[in-house]
Amino acid sequence: MKPSERLSRLPPYLFAELERKIADKKSAGVDVISLGIGDPDTPSPGFIVSGLCQAAADPGTHQYPSNRGRPALREAVARFYERRFGVALDAATEIVPALGAKECVFNLNLAFLDPGDAALAADPGYPVYTGGPLLAGAEPVLMPLLPERGFAPDLDAIQPSDRERGRVMYLNYPNNPTGAVVPEGLFEEAVAFAREHDVLVVHDASYTETTFDGYVAPSFLATPGAKEVGVEVFSLSKGYNMTGWRCAAILGNAEAIKTYWRLKTNVDSGLFEAVQLAGAAALRGARKEVEEMCRIYQRRRDLVVDALEAIGVEVGPPKGTIYIWAPVPAGHTSASFAELVLEEAAVVVSPGSMYGPSGEGFFRISLTTPDELLTEAVQRLKVHLAP
Ligand SMILES: Cc1ncc(COP(=O)(O)O)c(C=O)c1O
Repeated sequence: MKPSERLSRLPPYLFAELERKIADKKSAGVDVISLGIGDPDTPSPGFIVSGLCQAAADPGTHQYPSNRGRPALREAVARFYERRFGVALDAATEIVPALGAKECVFNLNLAFLDPGDAALAADPGYPVYTGGPLLAGAEPVLMPLLPERGFAPDLDAIQPSDRERGRVMYLNYPNNPTGAVVPEGLFEEAVAFAREHDVLVVHDASYTETTFDGYVAPSFLATPGAKEVGVEVFSLSKGYNMTGWRCAAILGNAEAIKTYWRLKTNVDSGLFEAVQLAGAAALRGARKEVEEMCRIYQRRRDLVVDALEAIGVEVGPPKGTIYIWAPVPAGHTSASFAELVLEEAAVVVSPGSMYGPSGEGFFRISLTTPDELLTEAVQRLKVHLAP
């Protein structure tokens, strides 16, 4: 059976091969520690689970959901954005729930891109910023995020022809995979760029609730003019430990949201309304659990950063996300290093090149592993990392 041309345009998925090797090792009885995927290891907060149980017991949630979303969820998101980010949103026209940030980002490509168009995508970046445009028949144009620029893209360096073709721009801060927080002035620059070139800015806010050392991540929508040119995708997956629930929302420019919604009504049938109500409960609730998660990740971050620095691997401690972005030792590519530590240390790390060419030379450690296992994994890595 021949897969579609569309699918064949996707680059090989490096992690698929790594996953096969992990499965082989596990079935051979090797005790593999995975620092690969960013999936919180602690359960969803109890009050959210209770909210779900209560909502699921109500037959009123059992039918096809509305793709516009329950008013209770849209209202809860609007109130949350007001409280947390100082952003005023109209719950009726400027918010629609999504089946996770992944679905939302992917469908934005189908909603806004045609063949010949381009998506300006952070590199390294979440793979859907590049795979999505390819599946939509368009092209990703990479915006390198380099350490010397604080992992901000250089918008002035975007070629005139790419500015012309660019229809959407993907930004994400706090950033996966680098852990960077938004460099000063970048959101303002993005608004000006979008106005000049008629580009929709899509800010992926998947990690705004996971920050450290007192840093509070802003919303892109708090930038003057942002709502005229952009949307933000907010997900409960990471900050609220709800990856399995598929609960997110798109917020901001009403026209863009209407277009996304029009596409979505042809693609899926919305988010289970009991999950919508539980999501609303999460956003209305106290932030005790969110803050506790930040404390846990900050402790794990320090544990890993200290251990790496003790052997001469310099990584500035990130102020957000659940990742450490570290350089691979000299003589290695990202892929060869990931393979080496899997083979020799039975530790899984994500090769930086998986996130784009500018990720080459780095590997990513996810902090979603209990402290003891993380400590053990770092011990195992030391011998391979020491210069
Ligand atoms: C930057 C970024 N965006 C989106 C997602 C997917 O989030 P969700 O679970 O809401 O689909 C992830 C998951 O790792 C991510 O890192």
